[in-house]
Amino acid sequence: MDRREFFREGPFRALGVLVCALAAYPVFRFMTFRKIRKTTVTFPPAPDIQSRVLYRKGVFLTARGPHPRALSARCSHLGCTVRFDEVTQTFRCPCHGSVFDADGKRLEGPARKPLEALPVTVGKDKEILVTRIL
Ligand code: FES
Repeated sequence: MDRREFFREGPFRALGVLVCALAAYPVFRFMTFRKIRKTTVTFPPAPDIQSRVLYRKGVFLTARGPHPRALSARCSHLGCTVRFDEVTQTFRCPCHGSVFDADGKRLEGPARKPLEALPVTVGKDKEILVTRIL
């Protein structure tokens, strides 16, 4: 292809590539579609959980301070379920040894992110509802 031919056909080829990319985008979106599944975990009303850490269905609920706080029990490293150590008041991952403080902040280990904080709402009977994405 000489230079003159390149400049004559180049814009059409670029347009062809653009049209193919636009046509392929919906197919790509369809193939990578992931349905988001949520579940709600229910805990007893706030006065019943004072100064304790409760665990239900992959969610830790702590009541340090005025508001309850929910943390995912999934380790931010590779997804193992962390456990709460009452003595040291830390979350510990049994898989690779990551340690998180009571607020979910990473203290040590291979994990780079804190434990995921989950949204907390109060139900009509003052029960605590935590929404968790599966
Ligand atoms: S999965 Fe928790 S430290 Fe690796």
